[in-house]
Amino acid sequence: MSKKPTKAKDDEVETTGHSWDGIEEYNNPLPRWWLWTLYATIVWAIAYTIAYPAWPMLNGATPGVLGWSTRGDVAAEIKAVDAQNAEIEGRLAAADLTAIPSDPELNSYAINAGAAVFQTWCIQCHGSGAAGAKGYPNLLDDDWLWGGDIESIHTTITHGVRNEDDDDARFSEMPAFGDDYLEPAQIDQVVNYVLQLSGQEADAAKATAGAAIFSEDCASCHAEDGKGDRDQGAPNLTDAIWLYGGDEDTIRETVTFARFGVMPTWSARLSESDINAVATYVHQLGGGE
Ligand code: HEC
Ligand code: HEC
Repeated sequence: MSKKPTKAKDDEVETTGHSWDGIEEYNNPLPRWWLWTLYATIVWAIAYTIAYPAWPMLNGATPGVLGWSTRGDVAAEIKAVDAQNAEIEGRLAAADLTAIPSDPELNSYAINAGAAVFQTWCIQCHGSGAAGAKGYPNLLDDDWLWGGDIESIHTTITHGVRNEDDDDARFSEMPAFGDDYLEPAQIDQVVNYVLQLSGQEADAAKATAGAAIFSEDCASCHAEDGKGDRDQGAPNLTDAIWLYGGDEDTIRETVTFARFGVMPTWSARLSESDINAVATYVHQLGGGE
């Protein structure tokens, strides 16, 4: 039986030689486990900065030999989702627009994808709820400038309105009647006629004179009865729905200076399946015909 080695006495441990007011500092070695953990973390850190993006440089960071990046990760995820959706995207791109609603799977995919497209590209002008704003039509109601069946909506979105980038853009131009076409007094008369048309209070005498002017200068676009013409995107002036506003001052401003609302073409930016999706989305918002 061997005896346990006697523990070294305190005064046998070496000291660092430092001494403060007679208090000396022992020079005990660091615990092994602690030291090895430290070495392991150093090795890990070096390996990590070689393998992964790590050191900041002037333009970005060192890329790391594994070539991994958060951006690449996202791209891979997007690719996986795209691959998953490729089949239905293809069906959507090739679909006959009017047949989409009768295919429940395609329809619900189109509405979801269309809502995402709308939130990305359309809300700046038409509002997140599609209720529009002054000059930007409400897409929830059944009052359409250019037509509310799905084919018309699709055409409007594909080519846009009055833009210069697409030869097939919807186009029409209301003249600025203040530019020598009509005298201010005549404008006043026709404005009163429009007020009367839309069921608002109007000066009867002016409105009567205005009716003749309307028939001469406005009916070619807004129609004899004032109900508008979708071939020309000319709004219905007999209802309470206004693109720019139906009060007397705003109508006078519209007639005097004209408006010329522009929507960009989307065929250059969105895929056919995206356009079909967003057309389906808009069509089912409530006003679709
Ligand atoms: C830069 C602003 C702008 C953006 C962005 C925009 N639009 Fe428009 N949109 C307009 C304007 C302005 C009109 C009305 C033009 C006019 O006076 O005829 C319009 C008209 C429309 C119409 C026709 C409405 C009717 O009554 O006939 C539809 C449908 C439409 N937009 C859908 C969309 C969709 C879908 C998107 C997104 C992909 C979109 N718009 C993005 C400005 C915009
Ligand atoms: C060449 C076709 C054309 C003629 C002619 C025309 N308009 Fe227009 N009008 C339009 C179009 C298109 C719009 C849509 C606004 C735009 O240009 O963005 C419009 C818009 C309006 C609006 C705004 C409606 C709203 O909802 O805010 C009023 C009001 C109006 N027109 C009145 C008149 C009157 C009054 C005349 C005759 C003095 C007239 N227009 C002649 C095409 C025409």
